[in-house]
Amino acid sequence: MKQRTKNRSNLKTVEWKNNVVVMIDQTKLPNKLVFVKYKDYRDVAHAIKTLVIRGAPAIGVAGAFGLALAALQSKAKSKEKLIEDLEKARKILFETRPTAVNLSWGLDKIMKVANKLNNVSEMKKLIIQTAKKMAQEDIETNMKMGKYGSVLFSNNDTIMTHCNAGALATVGYGTALGVIRATKENGKKIRVIATETRPVMQGSRLTAFELKHDGIDVSLIPDTAVGYVMAKGLVNKVIVGADRILRTGHVYNKIGTYQVAMMAKQHKIPFYVAAPLSTFDLKSNPEEVIIEQRKSTEVTQIGDRKTAPDDISVINPAFDMTPPELISGIITEAGIAKQPFEESIKKLFQSRL
Ligand code: MRU
Repeated sequence: MKQRTKNRSNLKTVEWKNNVVVMIDQTKLPNKLVFVKYKDYRDVAHAIKTLVIRGAPAIGVAGAFGLALAALQSKAKSKEKLIEDLEKARKILFETRPTAVNLSWGLDKIMKVANKLNNVSEMKKLIIQTAKKMAQEDIETNMKMGKYGSVLFSNNDTIMTHCNAGALATVGYGTALGVIRATKENGKKIRVIATETRPVMQGSRLTAFELKHDGIDVSLIPDTAVGYVMAKGLVNKVIVGADRILRTGHVYNKIGTYQVAMMAKQHKIPFYVAAPLSTFDLKSNPEEVIIEQRKSTEVTQIGDRKTAPDDISVINPAFDMTPPELISGIITEAGIAKQPFEESIKKLFQSRL
């Protein structure tokens, strides 16, 4: 694995270059812009697990690239053997993070195309081609979402966002931050309030970094100041991304999203979600969704410094669920779903058939 540092401009979060997967190491941001290169799908799985790459759409594409590497790594001479090797890689990649549905979406899409052909070298070619196409389509999807979503935002709005649903959580442009970018590109003057998003700090490390880089007016607040800024009238809309959305409109997103949505309801502030159709899980019920539990040191330490007593018991869920009644609209590349969500989401999917 080779590393190098560069200035950020027109960069992709994850990319396929000459049979190598290149990604920005997000654990190093905002202090260093480091690119990591992987030739082994097991390293991609490790990168997903350790948040080198994170954000639902980005890990969906990373998973697909991981399978493309597995195809190249395979010495299989027959279709059956190649599928067996891919299934093994699929399992390792899938088990990295359980909540964002985009990961299984990306992996399933690759397995489907692999199964279509019989010739091993043609299968490998098609797998790589499909994974590259998924990366390209991610950016196009986000731009479409931006177009639909920007009509919901007005001149002089101050928009709160939580976690990072930006270019860094996707291949480029972003979902929630894509809508914010599109609103600005449409000539509207907007301001953003970003929560720091404890304990992994995606808000301060990534969202503040991205928006500041793009010249978007952004203020950072501690997560604990959400109620204060809403009560003071300092924010008039909220937009977040999502890791999984059920057919009923239940939204799974970064831990703390539920609190932000509740507080927005209390202050009559519209609360929007922006996510591609690949984030929807039309099959599961809320009790079936696995919420990832992360290691306790994310809570008991800041960097290497201990901030809690030894052996303290910790609860550290990475995601929570926001119920549909707290959500004003869900922005997708096929349009905006509104309440009642079940009906509206169904229509969006039907429009894509
Ligand atoms: O743990 P993370 O950083 O992968 O969590 C990311 C989020 O919760 C994002 O808000 C979500 O994936 C939407 S990304 C467009």
